[in-house]
Amino acid sequence: MKDIYDEVVASYHRCRRNAAFFDTFYEIFLAKSPEIALKFARTDFARQKLMLKQSLLEVLNHYCGVTAVREELERLGNLHQQLDVQPKHYELWLEALCKTRSPVPSRVGGVMARSDAPRHYADAVR
Ligand code: HEM
Repeated sequence: MKDIYDEVVASYHRCRRNAAFFDTFYEIFLAKSPEIALKFARTDFARQKLMLKQSLLEVLNHYCGVTAVREELERLGNLHQQLDVQPKHYELWLEALCKTRSPVPSRVGGVMARSDAPRHYADAVR
């Protein structure tokens, strides 16, 4: 179990060092469905990418058993409910995350895809 934590955390840090990872993620995610693109029609993406980078760390902490992030994840969960984000959208979010590959030669998405962390991300915020 510890091995997969280490791998997922290392993978996250490789992602976060690459701004291109978040650019590519949103390109893939928004292309998944017009419903999703519409929800982000007025979004400031510079801010959004920073928020996602930070929240992935919170979700990862949650995955690793850190309870201090619970309040923030609940806030995020409520916000997404208000935005009418539905379970089917989380499935697409997960697919997009797993499909995103960093230009840096590493196994970023692959490692996350092999662990259950991406599903945990969605479950934590849902
Ligand atoms: C576990 C998965 C997800 C995480 C970690 C996540 C994270 C975040 C964060 C941190 C914010 C910014 C919150 C703030 O402003 O305080 C946000 C906003 C938002 N998220 Fe998500 N999100 C997830 C899934 C989704 C999904 C599936 C959708 C579906 C379309 C979605 C749509 C949005 C929208 C529309 C906003 C508001 C953007 C704006 O301010 O214009 N998110 N998300």
